[in-house]
Amino acid sequence: MAEVSQPVISVVPDDECKEKFKKSEHVAFYRRQMQGPNMQHQALLDTMVLTEKGARFELLEQVTKTRLLLSVSPSKNETVRILVDELQPIKARYRVPDVITEEPQCEQLRLETQTEDSVTLSWCAGRHQVRVWRSPFRVEVLCENEVMVTFNSKGKLWFETLQHPPRATSHSSELQEDDASLLWKETFKQFVDIKANGPSSIGADLCLHGFNHVYGLPEHADSLKLKDTRDGEPYRLYNLDVFAYELHSRFGLYGSVPLLVAHKPNKTLGVFWLNASETFVNVHYSPSDHQDDQTPPVKRRRVQPQSDVHWLSESGVIDCLVLLGPSPQKLFTQYAQLTGYQALPPLFALGYHQCRWNYNDEADVKAVDAGFDRHNIPYDVIWLDIEHTDGKRYFTWDPVHFPEPASLQRHLHKKKRKLVVISDPHIKVDPDWSLYCEARDGGHFVKDRKGQIYLGSCWPGESAYLDFSSPAARAWYSRCFALDKYKGSTPSLYVWNDMNEPSVFNGPEQTMSKDSVHYGGWEHRELHNLYGFYQHMATVDGLITRSGGSERPFVLSRSFFAGSQRLGAIWTGDNVASWEYLKISIPMLLSLSVAGIAFCGADVGGFVQDPEPELLVRWYQAAALQPFFRGHSANVTKRREPWLFGEEVTAAIRTVIQQRYCLLPYWYTLFHQAHTSGLPPLRPLWVEFPQEQSIFTVDNQYMIGGALLACPVTESGVQEVQVLLPGSAEIWYDVHSGKAYKGGRTLSLPVTLETVPVFQRGGSVVCRSVGSGSCTAEFKKLPLSVTVALNSQGVADGELYLDDGHSFSYRDRKAFCLRRFNMQSGRLVCRPASDEGTFDCDSVIQSVSILGVKSKPSTVIVHVSGTKDTSAAFEYTETCCRLTVSNLNLKVAQAWEIKIR
Ligand code: NOJ
Repeated sequence: MAEVSQPVISVVPDDECKEKFKKSEHVAFYRRQMQGPNMQHQALLDTMVLTEKGARFELLEQVTKTRLLLSVSPSKNETVRILVDELQPIKARYRVPDVITEEPQCEQLRLETQTEDSVTLSWCAGRHQVRVWRSPFRVEVLCENEVMVTFNSKGKLWFETLQHPPRATSHSSELQEDDASLLWKETFKQFVDIKANGPSSIGADLCLHGFNHVYGLPEHADSLKLKDTRDGEPYRLYNLDVFAYELHSRFGLYGSVPLLVAHKPNKTLGVFWLNASETFVNVHYSPSDHQDDQTPPVKRRRVQPQSDVHWLSESGVIDCLVLLGPSPQKLFTQYAQLTGYQALPPLFALGYHQCRWNYNDEADVKAVDAGFDRHNIPYDVIWLDIEHTDGKRYFTWDPVHFPEPASLQRHLHKKKRKLVVISDPHIKVDPDWSLYCEARDGGHFVKDRKGQIYLGSCWPGESAYLDFSSPAARAWYSRCFALDKYKGSTPSLYVWNDMNEPSVFNGPEQTMSKDSVHYGGWEHRELHNLYGFYQHMATVDGLITRSGGSERPFVLSRSFFAGSQRLGAIWTGDNVASWEYLKISIPMLLSLSVAGIAFCGADVGGFVQDPEPELLVRWYQAAALQPFFRGHSANVTKRREPWLFGEEVTAAIRTVIQQRYCLLPYWYTLFHQAHTSGLPPLRPLWVEFPQEQSIFTVDNQYMIGGALLACPVTESGVQEVQVLLPGSAEIWYDVHSGKAYKGGRTLSLPVTLETVPVFQRGGSVVCRSVGSGSCTAEFKKLPLSVTVALNSQGVADGELYLDDGHSFSYRDRKAFCLRRFNMQSGRLVCRPASDEGTFDCDSVIQSVSILGVKSKPSTVIVHVSGTKDTSAAFEYTETCCRLTVSNLNLKVAQAWEIKIR
């Protein structure tokens, strides 16, 4: 079969595109659950069994008399797992493997009280309790005697038990497609889905008491705070390839994380719904914003707010973990303990990446690479899209345009730069290609329901799809990255997994048929949302193994699931070059961050269509302040390397990329924090100001770590932006001018094309590199400057993390350096942080700037451990109360202090 021609890039989103995808009304299991009468479950309290792992109860459905098994397991890390499965299923139901990294350590439950109507159990010295109610069945989770969460509060618990297939009769084959026949067969457009297990959907509702702000559930192109779904579609979690996705929509995009985070002052909690099949989530706030507006103020009673969250999945079991926080920080750690911490990226991956579909040939790559040097713009990685291959056969090279790939990589490597190539999950059906034959003969492809290799169409034309859910297929795929197997690859080649929802051009909703079959005989429907996660995992393993286990991998994936954070980076797919898409990238990245996917970014400039120069500049400015920073554009767009739009644009882009590189010591420290505590580098304001209700919906600004507040300009032609500075007791310092502003106000800040509003919070310390270079390896050698921003008490605190930037020595040999800077009472002290490693680091601090020094000091004394005190020359700028001490040459790894008198 011939290669598939590239899709026509049209103005978006068009109707045809919309029609390709289902709405909730097209989905039979959603209709059944939403329209059917509620099931009526009772907890049989006398069946309670208390074990080391918690409590078990039988549940009885009143009408069908089916029995379910409920288990409630609290764990040491303040989570409660509520699991519901069939008591005696005719066969095992799918339970999501490989996502939970460590089974939570269970706490022993203590029986507190038991009545005819309820059982109360406690753990954690009585601080937490669960109460199971007999009828109507529900489970309450209490903290300090307050009910936080009620499971099945609205009685929406739904569990379709597995049945034997009905005998085919001539009559039944003629059945009309009513909802009864849809139980075993469902049609959407020309696609027929035969359900091997019949109806197997599940659902449950949870009431989150006292909360009227919930977040998370990526990936959707919508606001940070989740919307009330009463007057629209539910949030859909179903990984799909949606080109130029619709904005402000709750339809499923490329990846899914079924984690919802609820926040109110003094309390943050999470609900993690561990299910990888198609899932919908309805969110209802009470009182709804709507109700609030309509009711005259006199009649408004002060009711306790609540959020009702209804989860519905096509199959699997109910596996619902309630994370009890109570702070945002604790919640992120609890979630990371369950699903893994953010992988610590190699330093180069935090630099700037230049991508395009496609760089045409080796000469083109070298010219772009040289262009960055010529224009003095640092960058680390250049990317190749699908056209670099020989006929869309991944792991090969186009012999005409990329005849010498290894020498191309060596050329880049000499400049300490890397090449990334794309590797998609579809494999061209080509019996003359050894890689295809190996995968076929090894049984590594997904099968159709009749046991034949499942075939679909993608870039190469007719394609088979690797079954990454199979450990053997993953191991085989990983080995394909071995340097001796992947011809033309060298150790400086890294990988990008695309189209791994998976995208199947001629499949239902452009993805794989749900009735195709994976390892273990599981239908695709059970694990659809895990497909990309598994490819990402296999690629990461491949790169680690390639290096003998010593080098950190870098792999970008488009599709993802809970846990993908431990593998690498993800991006938000095919966005469009318009201001609206720039704007939405911020809440999209914040939602990902809240759900643990901390290393995330959006295509700079917009993938589809051509950005006007002003938009391009603003996009670079925003993305330079976001974790994954890559320019990318579609095949039919105009070239847009940063120097193609005139000197003003080049200069503006150069400035922000250089600023990004200077800030890398801070970014890297934040990634170390994400890697060890689960706290994401990009944070909604409420994470840092959890008490301040007025900022709970802000999603055009965010914190980078605890120290920097960013407010990227996302509108055209603006001369002034409104920046909300949280906290009435806070001081915020404009990082460019050093000027101090009191918090608790909205600042009108005049802006030019060059302005990127960023403020440092009083009380924090930020380290930067000083000077210039062409890539992260060069910046790493530069001396550092430390900016200490004092709060109103004259105190500031911060950390700096350093290691070799590329290997696992930080983990295996503790070869890292973690320093703490603390200033109080006019004394800045640099000491090892509690977990100090053994990295022999020769980084030097050249200067220290202290913001918020009220008056000019008479002397500044520098004390280095083991040497005599010296007095240092300094500069004091009265207009912005800044004290700068230069020419310090202090070793980061040494203990030293600076005293101001
Ligand atoms: C879709 C991806 O989202 C895009 O980034 C890529 O350029 C094209 N596939 C071609 O590989």
